[in-house]
Amino acid sequence: MFNYPKKVLEHFKKPRNMGRIKNADAVGEAGNLICGDVMRIYLKIKEKNGKKIISDIKGEVFGCIVAVANTSMLTTLIKGKTLEEALKFDKEDLIKKLGGREKIPPIKIHCSILAADALKEAIYNYYEKNNLPIPEELKKEHERIRKSVEEIERRHKEFLSLEREII
Ligand code: FES
Repeated sequence: MFNYPKKVLEHFKKPRNMGRIKNADAVGEAGNLICGDVMRIYLKIKEKNGKKIISDIKGEVFGCIVAVANTSMLTTLIKGKTLEEALKFDKEDLIKKLGGREKIPPIKIHCSILAADALKEAIYNYYEKNNLPIPEELKKEHERIRKSVEEIERRHKEFLSLEREII
């Protein structure tokens, strides 16, 4: 059994902003290639003084304690930020806020950045849906994250067909 940092346990026991947003303006999905777990981030965007603000954010997690905790933590940090500020959000900050690399079990480090990837995908989704110019760096990140999700889906289908053969 792992020893989790206090912040991870706190957010896992009382997760903030969980669930879906009805009529969300954008949705992003990211997956953990190691375990196959997936999470989604839903965004509601409002215009204020010519800036696009994340007025609401929720997360849906199909994953472990650290995945739930980092999604919860990320939603509290991102709510109210502009899209530009959210894009600058560094996944290392999320790891630090959850207790730091030295306290999170190494095998769980990947779980602790999933929400940051799902957020990037949600922002990408918003730009794409609204025909807005997509920053080059975000395009690259989108390709990386999308490939992981596709690989998880491929493995999942393979697993289901194997299961059918066995049963
Ligand atoms: Fe799957 Fe952590 S073990 S997200």
